[in-house]
Amino acid sequence: MPFKGKVALVTGAHRGIGKAIAGAFAREDAHVILNDVCEQQDLLNTAEGLSIHKGQCVAMRADVSRSEQVKDMIRRIEKRFGRLDILVNNAGIIRRGSIETVSEEEWDQVIAVNLKGTFNCCKAAADLMIRQRSGKIINVSSIAGKTGDITSAPGYAPSKAAIDSLTKTLARQLAAYGINVNGVAPHAIETDMSAEWSEERRRAIIESIPLRRLGQPEEVAEAVLFLASDKAGFITGEILDVNGGFLMD
Ligand SMILES: NC(=O)c1ccc[n+]([C@@H]2O[C@H](COP(=O)([O-])OP(=O)(O)OC[C@H]3O[C@@H](n4cnc5c(N)ncnc54)[C@H](O)[C@@H]3O)[C@@H](O)[C@H]2O)c1
Repeated sequence: MPFKGKVALVTGAHRGIGKAIAGAFAREDAHVILNDVCEQQDLLNTAEGLSIHKGQCVAMRADVSRSEQVKDMIRRIEKRFGRLDILVNNAGIIRRGSIETVSEEEWDQVIAVNLKGTFNCCKAAADLMIRQRSGKIINVSSIAGKTGDITSAPGYAPSKAAIDSLTKTLARQLAAYGINVNGVAPHAIETDMSAEWSEERRRAIIESIPLRRLGQPEEVAEAVLFLASDKAGFITGEILDVNGGFLMD
């Protein structure tokens, strides 16, 4: 069990891809800190549901877009576990629309959670990981960051493109401290986020994917676990596609 006793923080872990990632680490007997901005009781329930494994599963409610809340969360993790081995920046929001309909407020919200939230968590975690001289950071991006997007309001795809750039920048800056920084770029994963699609759009998306199906959150989790493992020790600054072959870059 390569993750036994490792300490992993997963943001946006109450549901969807984040919950699957937290579950995958828990099954490996890692200690998992589940972060989300949802109701505290809901997050506690999710964490409790994973507590059947040997590692501890802890709920820590914080809004990743608020740097003080993020710093406090990392301080609490250090106090409780003494270290942080893995950070998965998964929390993200999407707004639908176009350049004609998007408001300045929607732009700010998406950039604040997706991009600044990832930055806040990387900065606070890096402080601890640099002192440890080890760590793995995995940022959940999106295919939209590479291709642009027609269904989300402008803000979502640029936030993900900037996350990819942040991933590469931090991979360069943190390599000297034994910290690997990578990303995953999913497409069309079955979660509440993709449940917003109409039946027609869903069919069209499946048609456009060479593997002819949507992806499952657990399949993104497996890619994250690989990047967090020592098997990926010589990989840093990589954005791994998890997209059924839709984009091969
Ligand atoms: N589902 C897809 O097809 C897909 C495709 C590409 C990328 N992604 C990315 O994967 C990640 C997870 O997506 P999902 O489909 O599971 O979405 P989701 O909406 O089901 O889950 C996102 C979680 O993040 C939490 N969250 C939102 N704002 C937060 C904040 N400020 N602080 C902490 N937590 C916050 C939400 O409460 C929720 O639990 C996102 O970054 C998303 O952009 C998803």
